[in-house]
Amino acid sequence: MQGTEIVGRVARLGRHSDSPDHYTRTLFTPAHRAAAAEIAAWMGEAGMTVRTDPIGNVIGRYAGASADAKTLLMGSHFDSVRNGGKFDGVLGILVPIACVAELNARGERLRVAIEVAAFSDEEGARFQTSFLSSRALIGRFDPEVLERRDADGVSLAAAMREAGLDPAAAPRAALDPSRLAGYVELHIEQGPVLLDAGKPLGVVTSIASGIRYLVRVSGEAGHAGTVPMSRRRDALAAASEMVLAVEAQCAAVDSAVGTVGILKVKDGTGNVIPGEVEFTVDVRAPDDARRHAAEASVLREFERIAKRRGVSAEPARGPHDVKGVPCAPWLQDRLAQSIERRTGAAAARLPSGAGHDAMILAEVTDAGMLFVRCGAGGVSHNPAETVTAEDAGLAADVLLDFLRNF
Ligand code: HGY
Ligand code: MN
Ligand code: MN
Repeated sequence: MQGTEIVGRVARLGRHSDSPDHYTRTLFTPAHRAAAAEIAAWMGEAGMTVRTDPIGNVIGRYAGASADAKTLLMGSHFDSVRNGGKFDGVLGILVPIACVAELNARGERLRVAIEVAAFSDEEGARFQTSFLSSRALIGRFDPEVLERRDADGVSLAAAMREAGLDPAAAPRAALDPSRLAGYVELHIEQGPVLLDAGKPLGVVTSIASGIRYLVRVSGEAGHAGTVPMSRRRDALAAASEMVLAVEAQCAAVDSAVGTVGILKVKDGTGNVIPGEVEFTVDVRAPDDARRHAAEASVLREFERIAKRRGVSAEPARGPHDVKGVPCAPWLQDRLAQSIERRTGAAAARLPSGAGHDAMILAEVTDAGMLFVRCGAGGVSHNPAETVTAEDAGLAADVLLDFLRNF
């Protein structure tokens, strides 16, 4: 399958969105279910048997040359962030499907069976989960999440039932890791490194360590017109100083990054001094030591600011707390060899600042990742996210070479 067809399918799948105004696809919404159905149809056309597992993962299987062959698992996610880019996750589902379609068209069977997993929830945008469906696949589903509610108060359990799934069956999504030969995830780089280096593809060396908090700041609500500035315990002014502290403290630790993506003022009203504010914090670094250093200094600053301003700050750890993960050296080398065979150029190797399902699968099997160059300056989690048809086609070419030589 040529790159133009792959990129065309990315655009088609991008039509399934929760919003008519932009691309957002969250767990078990009608758009999410329509996308799952289209992915299942493409897997079937490629000669795979297709199943939907108890957590909504769509998994296509292409048998190996022998019945007892181990399985090479590939895949990525088909949910998105809000107003995101259409290639994030999806390209890592469509390219492996294209590779299997090519093998199937030629009647080729490999030493291993191939499974392509379209993960139902990686971003966790609807229920504030984290790697929900790949965690379920490795047997780490936490039933506590079933009671998490979305912005409309709908629980995950109710959304599962609405999608025709039994919440109680979710833990049965767990696969038997002993039958895996490994996991390889193709993903857009979501940064500018390959673009700046003039490289279409790269091999991932490691995946960043990350943590997320939900911070509640409580001060004292009051009348905007009558409380002197010296007597205020303004929760939003305090939170704003804390947001800047996230930026400053993470900038001070080599290669660490810190982001506040959501900030909400409780009962916000124009003429009321904010009494309570909640905001999210996402801190990452290439390794655990630097992540913990940045995390500790951010929390220390929160305490200092809260004390000086007479407010309370309660940082609660969210479900997203992931250690930095090295990609298996032998998979890195195999992927690099395929890049070199198919492009004639040395393969770039680079770390991933973004989190991926590969860091969850790495808990039970060797994991590798292949990055594809992003256009538009390398931007991602942004509607401008893009990949050229040429790079998508080359990615399929290299992944097919990797499979044939696996
Ligand atoms: O946040 C991440 O790195 C990924 O997009 N879930
Ligand atoms: Mn993402
Ligand atoms: Mn992703």
